[in-house]
Amino acid sequence: MSVSAHELVVGRRHAYIVGMRIGNLKLAGRVVCAPLAGISNRPFRVMALKAGAAMTFTEMISSEGLIRNQGKTRSMMAFKQDEQPLGIQLFGANPESMRRAAQITVDEFGPDMVDINFGCPVRKVVNKNGGAAALKDLGLTREIIAAVVEGAGATPVSIKMRTGWAGSSPVYLEAGRIAKEEGVSAVTLHARSKADGFSGKADWSAIKRLKEAVDIVVIGNGDVRTPLDARRMLDETGCDAVMVGRAAMGNPDIFRQMHHYLETGELVDEPTLAERIETAKRHARLMVEEYGEERGMKMMRRYLGWYVKGFPGAATLRPKLFKVDRLTDVDEVLGEYVAGMG
Ligand SMILES: Cc1cc2nc3c(=O)[nH]c(=O)nc-3n(C[C@H](O)[C@H](O)[C@H](O)COP(=O)(O)O)c2cc1C
Repeated sequence: MSVSAHELVVGRRHAYIVGMRIGNLKLAGRVVCAPLAGISNRPFRVMALKAGAAMTFTEMISSEGLIRNQGKTRSMMAFKQDEQPLGIQLFGANPESMRRAAQITVDEFGPDMVDINFGCPVRKVVNKNGGAAALKDLGLTREIIAAVVEGAGATPVSIKMRTGWAGSSPVYLEAGRIAKEEGVSAVTLHARSKADGFSGKADWSAIKRLKEAVDIVVIGNGDVRTPLDARRMLDETGCDAVMVGRAAMGNPDIFRQMHHYLETGELVDEPTLAERIETAKRHARLMVEEYGEERGMKMMRRYLGWYVKGFPGAATLRPKLFKVDRLTDVDEVLGEYVAGMG
């Protein structure tokens, strides 16, 4: 059995050394929570970190919105200590705006990392050359990276990218080299091209090639759903950490399961239905604390829908959860559901 630099053998089990570093940032694990627009807000991040995610990210923040001093943009960036380690993710296509945005981010908010979005496929973003569109012009990619590294000063900078704009012309190796040359501390690769959207399977072999080609911290991303997936991605690609997005929606416990498996080589039991309900209620309380009852509960409805995924009778439960207005409604609907199961 060969053992990589990240691993150790515990008894007869093969486990990962779970601590790692990104620049001057120390992480206690190798499973990080993905930036998810409209989803990875403060309550989501707290739930992920409490469960065992090694770090979290804000959803993508518009550099132009930030430098124009938009209140809404700033409210998406504010965070507290219990959300750290935290990366704030910026997007934009104008290097000077990105430099200023990185500077404001560091000076006013002080996150542990500044991340650049080179992966977003959404039309509103790519039409202005932001997100994955910046990968069409590696000269621009370099300018944006250099500008953010300068603006961020001593705070580590990471980039998060797809393999390229079109599947037929991947640029991630070149973009990774550029990132390294410009002083970036970590690269996250969502192993699909922009053209792939979310279809097909992520091509993890690209993550392996990136790790082999560029001497930089690589965070692998795409279709990691189970503890075994997390382990397999680390094993197959040699990446330093894995990032989990969709599998964490309505299931923050996935971070505990993955972290434990990597640390010990043992699978823990999945949470029971009652435990998942308790987790959903805790999440709902955090939503209300953060946004007030009216707004918080409206926002929470979608998350509740995710929490009950796979529950017996979820199809009849979900419409009731989509109508909750108050915290007590959540208790009531879920309480009735459990009683009905009895
Ligand atoms: C609803 C949604 C919103 C997303 N928002 C962002 C974002 O703001 N920034 C970003 O870099 N990636 C974003 N992504 C991409 C994810 O971070 C991640 O790269 C992708 O979902 C693949 O990982 P997964 O298979 O673990 O979900 C988003 C994905 C989804 C599904």
